[in-house]
Amino acid sequence: MATTVQNLLTCENLVKSFGQEEHNVLDRVSLSVKNGEFVSVMGPSGSGKSTLMYALSGMDTVNGGTILFDGKDLSKMKDKELADTRRNAMGFVFQQPSLLRNLNILDNIILIAVRSDPKNRKAITKKAIDLMEMAGIASLGQREVSQVSGGQLQRAGICRSLMNNPKILFCDEPTGALNSKTAGEIMDVFGEINKVGTAIVMVTHDAKIASRSERILFMSDGKIVKELKLFGYYGREEESRVDKIMEIMREIGI
Ligand SMILES: Nc1ncnc2c1ncn2[C@@H]1O[C@H](COP(=O)(O)OP(=O)(O)OP(=O)(O)O)[C@@H](O)[C@H]1O
Ligand SMILES: [Mg+2]
Repeated sequence: MATTVQNLLTCENLVKSFGQEEHNVLDRVSLSVKNGEFVSVMGPSGSGKSTLMYALSGMDTVNGGTILFDGKDLSKMKDKELADTRRNAMGFVFQQPSLLRNLNILDNIILIAVRSDPKNRKAITKKAIDLMEMAGIASLGQREVSQVSGGQLQRAGICRSLMNNPKILFCDEPTGALNSKTAGEIMDVFGEINKVGTAIVMVTHDAKIASRSERILFMSDGKIVKELKLFGYYGREEESRVDKIMEIMREIGI
């Protein structure tokens, strides 16, 4: 019998370098993410976290190793198949969402979906409004990008990245530009997203933010040097989870 929870994403021995003389920015990284799992990635600046996210999501190529997503090898895909996989099954949230200034919030959220399926504008808009409700920005659809706060803009970016019902959401410091209260609210949104079965892989520098995930991978010098499973800590106060994370952060010099 197959196990009930399958791996959604598995990489083995990923190697990435940016020049022949340079050391490997990713140095034989292996990891897996289960369907619906919420994993954080932490590590010092320059340890390779963003590079890992770009590699796992097929946004950048690697020099060695394999990435299996949903049973398929990303490196063996033709450009079109890779683009389709990314468009249909993956979402991305960056520290600063790049929304177009000449469109309002709603139009930004639906833009890509409408472009690929113009006849379905009505259903797409309905979906966007449902997501905006989930993210707490339902009333802001008609606002200009310049008329909303950083936290609201990030919520809009998250809605946009969920329009294709991704199986996995990659987030690179999604709360890095936000104050701690707003960051906590964004984490509540991620909690909702994760609850309905979307896997999340999130880079963060913040122990409190990372404490909301199920598992943390710690990177240093292009390697995963430690793993912390948090479900064992879930019964405890947030404070004790954060203490444990900070202990490891000190250990590896974050
Ligand atoms: N396009 C590139 N060309 C050359 N070197 C690069 C490139 N992108 C990243 N690097 C190098 O790879 C290393 C890892 O970078 P990366 O952006 O993955 O780090 P990070 O862990 O995300 O850091 P931070 O926490 O500061 O965002 C760094 O030494 C960086 O200078
Ligand atoms: Mg980075």
